[in-house]
Amino acid sequence: MANSESEWGPDAPTGNSSRMANSESERGPDAPTGNSSRMANSESEWGPDAPTGNPSRMATIGSRSAPDAPRGNSPLDTVLAWFELARAEGVPEPEAAALATATPDGRPSVRMVLIRGIDARGVCFYTNRESRKGQELAANPHGAVAIHWHALQRQIRLEGPVEPLSDEESDAYFAGRPYGSRLSAWASAQSSVLPDYETLEQRVVEFGARYPHEVPRPPYWGGYLLRPEAIEFWEGRPNRLHDRVRHLREGDGWRVDRLAP
Ligand SMILES: Cc1cc2nc3c(=O)[nH]c(=O)nc-3n(C[C@H](O)[C@H](O)[C@H](O)COP(=O)(O)O)c2cc1C
Repeated sequence: MANSESEWGPDAPTGNSSRMANSESERGPDAPTGNSSRMANSESEWGPDAPTGNPSRMATIGSRSAPDAPRGNSPLDTVLAWFELARAEGVPEPEAAALATATPDGRPSVRMVLIRGIDARGVCFYTNRESRKGQELAANPHGAVAIHWHALQRQIRLEGPVEPLSDEESDAYFAGRPYGSRLSAWASAQSSVLPDYETLEQRVVEFGARYPHEVPRPPYWGGYLLRPEAIEFWEGRPNRLHDRVRHLREGDGWRVDRLAP
């Protein structure tokens, strides 16, 4: 998004920016108030290890919170809207997200991935399906994602079943990645033990010789779709009275609750 040619590829979450801009344009009366001295203070609303962002800027980006959005819209529209706002506000790499998976007996693991698509189905990311996360998802196809934008004082959480994306979608995304990234997908048996770094570099050279121009998608590399059954929007507010709104899938619609911070 911000860095469209990052190592993880040029694709960004899709969406209609103008719609996003509209849906986030109104400012709520209870947006963060931006008291600079209090924020700078070690006893700020965030506590001693508080985010150090520019409070006046935060005040200008506070917006209506999620439940005030038009009813009947999917919360995934709001996820997209928040991404568009993060992009418009210049958040660095706003698509970076912590992805948690777990073994069948419930031992969790978490790592960062990039959210590469958002649509009515859910959110998607791309990876090596033989990696640790891929193996955990094969055995226990459920995941949780947390996205945090410090400068906006916002967090999004999504939870739900995870399924592989189709070959067509994975091919389309892979084809758009830079040449070096496509080679790396072949060279790196992600999550496996390497004898040393040179071995990895040597594999890149070997696959470069094999694929000097066109690089096909490795059969083990592709996308996943997390279809959220729960989505929570969190906005930082003064005095730790943060605003949390949770959407739980209920039949064809969503049940919306505000949670205590
Ligand atoms: C900001 C950031 C974004 C990342 N994005 C991805 C990604 O989209 N896909 C991926 O496979 N790994 C990504 N990684 C690397 C993963 O965090 C992780 O090291 C790798 O996927 C192996 O994880 P696993 O052993 O749990 O499968 C990213 C790392 C960072 C720091």
